[in-house]
Amino acid sequence: MVRGGLTLIHMGAEAKLYRGIYAGVEAVYKYRVPKKYRHPQLDARIRAYRTLREARALMDAGINGIPAPAVLLVEPEEALIVMEHVEGRLLGEILEHVSGRRLEALFRMLGRIVGRMHEAGLIHGDLTTSNIIVTKDGRLVLIDFGLSSKSRRLEDRGIDVHVLLRSLESTVPEAAEHAYKSFLEGYGEEAGASIAEEIAEKVREIRMRGRYVAERRQSSLEAVLHNRE
Ligand SMILES: Nc1ncnc2c1ncn2[C@@H]1O[C@H](COP(=O)(O)OP(=O)(O)O)[C@@H](O)[C@H]1O
Ligand SMILES: [Mg+2]
Repeated sequence: MVRGGLTLIHMGAEAKLYRGIYAGVEAVYKYRVPKKYRHPQLDARIRAYRTLREARALMDAGINGIPAPAVLLVEPEEALIVMEHVEGRLLGEILEHVSGRRLEALFRMLGRIVGRMHEAGLIHGDLTTSNIIVTKDGRLVLIDFGLSSKSRRLEDRGIDVHVLLRSLESTVPEAAEHAYKSFLEGYGEEAGASIAEEIAEKVREIRMRGRYVAERRQSSLEAVLHNRE
């Protein structure tokens, strides 16, 4: 399904994104590209499935008051979603330029959004600072729900927050802790302070697990190297 006047704006591993007009409004066309290494029929099913999953999550978010682009059209067979274009910049791009009160406000607001989303039973699945748009008037909008799921499990919520914290640390290591603290405050305002504390504890546990795995990898690598000497 090709419509006139589309401009490529992003080429990801899974999807190509175009900017254009749909039904008179500024829109983004997210098209999942075929993967040659997959069996064609299986490939078509996977792309249709992920397209549906993303469209459902976008609509679910909207219903629950979580800021996400409005869905304008879904064509699972074509692996295409057309959604509202959100004017703004990615959180990851502006992070280096914000600090102090503005950083706190931004992350408290993000905490409230994610807290509300998790309370609605929705897990984002790829909550990095590249999947959050900051609009000109300072609102936050979540995008890229292709890996989302429905769950109320603490573990799944914790992974969402862990992924966010990790991407925060890789963009602004010096401000990550400060921002995370504000995030948890906001999360608590929506989900309750005790849930926010449980999440923080879960994230600590997930991080320890990661470290443990990395250390084991390191020591078995050292053992191999040592034996070679
Ligand atoms: N609704 C939208 N409005 C504005 N820009 C968008 C929108 N959706 C996606 N983008 C832009 O396209 C990029 C890739 O989209 P995304 O859904 O995150 O795909 P990918 O799975 O490839 O990361 C985003 O980082 C953002 O810059
Ligand atoms: Mg993305």
